[in-house]
Amino acid sequence: MDIGKAFSLAGKTAIVTGAAKTTGLCYGMATALHDAGAKVALMDVSDGVFPLAESLGGAANGYFPVKADLCAKASREEGFARAVADLGGRLDVLLNGAGLQHRCDALDFPDDKWEIILDVNLSAMFYMCQLAARVMAERGGGRIINIASMTSFVASRRIPAYAASKGGVMQLTKALSNEWCKLGINVNAIAPGYMDTELTANMINTEQGRQHTARIAAGRWGKPEDLQGSVIFLASPASAYVSGAVLPVDGGYLAM
Ligand SMILES: NC(=O)c1ccc[n+]([C@@H]2O[C@H](COP(=O)([O-])OP(=O)(O)OC[C@H]3O[C@@H](n4cnc5c(N)ncnc54)[C@H](O)[C@@H]3O)[C@@H](O)[C@H]2O)c1
Repeated sequence: MDIGKAFSLAGKTAIVTGAAKTTGLCYGMATALHDAGAKVALMDVSDGVFPLAESLGGAANGYFPVKADLCAKASREEGFARAVADLGGRLDVLLNGAGLQHRCDALDFPDDKWEIILDVNLSAMFYMCQLAARVMAERGGGRIINIASMTSFVASRRIPAYAASKGGVMQLTKALSNEWCKLGINVNAIAPGYMDTELTANMINTEQGRQHTARIAAGRWGKPEDLQGSVIFLASPASAYVSGAVLPVDGGYLAM
């Protein structure tokens, strides 16, 4: 194996959902895919994709912003088609990172939060996988990387919708791998540990946050950069025989 080529994404194309701001995990993963050689479409419901892509050099530098609501069929399908067109009609990698969270006791958990979290985190992910796999199958293969969570493995407290959705992400990843690996499409997931981002900002300094910190073998919460190596690995030829895996990137949390 030529190790340099094995980890290269030169000439490849990728769609990353959920990358609309520099503080998020998906921004770090999108720039990693780009730095390994891929052109990247940034797809998000937020207008933030436009200034973000521009700040990264825009189309001239291989970044394409696409605004789409992944929960709305027409918007999702138009956005996906637009992204593939911007990428030159081919798609090698789909990274499904868009996600929502809401903390509340299960007894009082609001219906609307339950529905939107399951919609964004799980249902929209499935529909995006399906759209991508149809394009990838025609070209002989591709890579799908879903963003799971520690709550794919352990359910924690006060996040019943998030835990249910991320448990679903793990099983969805395996189910799709079982059907699509023979089409040349590797489907894997990355399960980030407790990461220091806006999504967790209201938690890190709580009692529950301190309990999580105590369980992280690395002794610290993760940073977006901590996911970059894993995403390049799962998108690149180096992981050709890896499919249906859920890779924890958690500073040792699950082993504790
Ligand atoms: N932050 C953490 O500690 C942590 C840990 C484990 C897993 N994760 C997962 O990583 C992913 C990214 O998390 P983050 O911390 O960067 O969050 P973030 O809030 O910065 O990013 C999530 C993005 O999803 C987008 N989004 C929400 N609804 C959408 C919709 N209907 N259509 C299109 N886009 C939509 C948002 O606009 C936002 O840009 C999520 O799937 C999250 O569950 C985060």
